[in-house]
Order: sequence, then C-alpha cells, then structure tokens
Amino acid sequence: MDIQIRPARLEDIPALTSLIPLSVRMLQASYYTPAQIEGALGTVFAVDSQLIRDRTYFIAESDSQIVGCGGWSRRSTSYGGDLNQSAAADELIDPNLHPAKIRAFFVHPAWARRGIGSQMMRQCEAAAVAAGFGTIEIVATLAGEPLYARFGYRTIQQFEIPLPNNLTLPGVKMFKDFSESH
Ligand SMILES: CC(C)(COP(=O)(O)OP(=O)(O)OC[C@H]1O[C@@H](n2cnc3c(N)ncnc32)[C@H](O)[C@@H]1OP(=O)(O)O)[C@@H](O)C(=O)NCCC(=O)NCCS
Repeated sequence: MDIQIRPARLEDIPALTSLIPLSVRMLQASYYTPAQIEGALGTVFAVDSQLIRDRTYFIAESDSQIVGCGGWSRRSTSYGGDLNQSAAADELIDPNLHPAKIRAFFVHPAWARRGIGSQMMRQCEAAAVAAGFGTIEIVATLAGEPLYARFGYRTIQQFEIPLPNNLTLPGVKMFKDFSESH
C-alpha cells in the first residue's frame, strides 16, 4: 500500500467535507449513538480551515484518492471546525509555555487499521517538535483514544463536549511530554 502525505489545500475542503461524515458514521459507531454523531457533525467534526492556512493540516492519498486527513496546531483551539470557533480563541501559542495540539484525524472507513492514522501522527509529531514544542495535547474522541495511547499519550481528563442538539459527546484529553520519551 503506497500512501502519500501532503499538506491540505483550501481546494480540498469539499472532499474533506464528504470524507469526515463517512469516517465518523462508520468508525465511531461503536463509541457514540447516532444522535451524538449527527449532533457533532458539522461543528465538532468538521474542517478547521485555519489549520490548512497554517499548513499544519495533512491529507493522506492513495492513487490521488483522499483516504485520510489530520493535523496539528500551534493555536489555542483544541477541537472543532470553522463553525465551532470564535476568532478570539484561535491565538498562536508559545511553544515554551503551552502544548501543541493534534487535531481532527479522520480516516476513510475502507482504509481503517492500515496504518494511515499512524503515518499522519508521525508527520504531525515531527512537525510540532521541529516547531519547538516539547509537549502535545489532544482532545480526543473515544474512537481516537487507542491510536493516541499507542503513541504514548496519557489520558489526563475525561469530559463531555456540548453539542448543538443539546446532547453531549464524551471525550478525553490526552497528553505527551517528549522529554519523557527518550
Ligand atoms: C482514530 C482513527 C483516525 C485511526 O486511524 P487508523 O488509520 O485506523 O489508525 P492506524 O491503522 O494507524 O492504527 C494504529 C493503531 O492504533 C490502535 N487503533 C486504531 N484504531 C483502533 C480501534 N478502532 N480499536 C482499537 N485500537 C485501535 C491500534 O493499536 C492500531 O494498531 P493495529 O491496527 O496494529 O492494532 C480512525 O479510526 C478514525 O478516523 N476514526 C473516526 C474519526 C475519529 O474519531 N478520529 C479521532 C478524532 S480525535
């Protein structure tokens, strides 16, 4: 299997907007109810175009077909798409004081468990460390938790993300200190 990882472009947004619901409806089905998933789609699970403009969001492709996306962030927002954010929350953070974030990983369900999430994680971690961050934080879904645990992230908090349909989505905050991993 030959997977290429490249920076996402704003022109990819329509394709990502199709991929994300496919990924979530299938791969989160054993973790969340359909009502939670539908409530989170479009707001919590959606494209954050700021990450694309920052060139910190990546696309995984096989034969030019988009099979996954995921990124990292040097900003304060922890999760959610464009509709979920206020501009004030999206400030750049100081790598000496704050963790980078892993953001918005979605793999096409037909391509799950083939190492694409892991390949994007390696890319994101390397880029965040190269940018001077020594720690990374993830506001993760329960579906994402096993992948990130495999990369050495510790679950430090459990919480409920409020959804626009008045339900909540259980999630976990995970953390990795790169100075501990050597
Ligand atoms: C989470 C997600 C990105 C993982 O992508 P992936 O390409 O399937 O992950 P990988 O193939 O690289 O998995 C690497 C390892 O992570 C763990 N893992 C990944 N998915 C898992 C699952 N559903 N159950 C248990 N372990 C899992 C396993 O240890 C796996 O290794 P293995 O397949 O050799 O056992 C994908 O399931 C997804 O898109 N989920 C829906 C969207 C979502 O919730 N994203 C997370 C947002 S925080």
